[in-house]
Amino acid sequence: MFKDLEGKVVVVTGASSGLGRAIAKRFGEEKAKVVVNYYKNEGKSDELIKEIKEAGGEAIKVQGDVSKEEDVKRLVQTAIDEFGTLDVMVNNAGIQNEVPTEELSVEEWNKVISTNLTGIFTGSREAIKYMLEHDIKGSIINMSSVHQIIPWPHFAHYAASKGGIKMLSETLALEYAPHGIRVNCLAPGAINTPINKEKFSDPEAKEEVLKMIPMKKIGEPEEVAAAAVWLASKEASYVTGTTLYIDGGMTNYPSFQAGKG
Ligand code: NAI
Repeated sequence: MFKDLEGKVVVVTGASSGLGRAIAKRFGEEKAKVVVNYYKNEGKSDELIKEIKEAGGEAIKVQGDVSKEEDVKRLVQTAIDEFGTLDVMVNNAGIQNEVPTEELSVEEWNKVISTNLTGIFTGSREAIKYMLEHDIKGSIINMSSVHQIIPWPHFAHYAASKGGIKMLSETLALEYAPHGIRVNCLAPGAINTPINKEKFSDPEAKEEVLKMIPMKKIGEPEEVAAAAVWLASKEASYVTGTTLYIDGGMTNYPSFQAGKG
């Protein structure tokens, strides 16, 4: 537990499922005040709010599409209006779909880039603007992926968005370090969430993924949430501009595991 997170105001985007849900819940367990952004599933966010309150935190929900600038502005403003300030911004919402690049339309490209990358830009900008105005030494946590460094055929738009998140976050970290605002990325490998439901329900496809993970297991959302609360806490007070990989070793060249090469 991170005692300094008690009472902190935390916004989590895309919080009604998967990693966002686990992160929002863990902040609730740390007794933070959590703003649960959801896109479509209001029922799931109501369930989450109940769980956060039962765990000792406070929570409100805000519908919003992170690819729309006005929605992101309203999300951050609601956090400030309802809870009085903003300490932590977790830009988690993201989408992916498989398309061979020769068939990838500009419309599909724009959808992924505007959700995954532009959404993180506007979320970070709005949070930083408020933190600067109120001299808050806050923490911005951006959800990237191992695909910020591992190329991924058929997912060019997704990989490009995650590579962009890495450089955006490093740039913001450098720009706002003098103000004590820390900006970091989380880069999960293969985690058991709805984004992977189809793949992991096919035993052969799951086996192929496991071959790429030195620890030979799929990660759980709570293992990513644990990293998020640490990054937000004062235990990570000297950590900025970095990426924490939570991937069971996937980025450590698994094909070399047997000592060949
Ligand atoms: P998920 O599909 O359960 O969660 C994505 C969330 O984003 C959903 O709640 C969805 O409603 C929300 N969302 C989608 N479009 C949105 C929009 N325009 N505005 C607001 N919210 C929107 O999947 P998961 O795994 O929890 O994904 C969360 C993040 O983690 C994504 O950024 C994803 O790229 C990243 N990630 C996930 C990995 C995994 O293995 N599960 C691996 C690496 C990265």
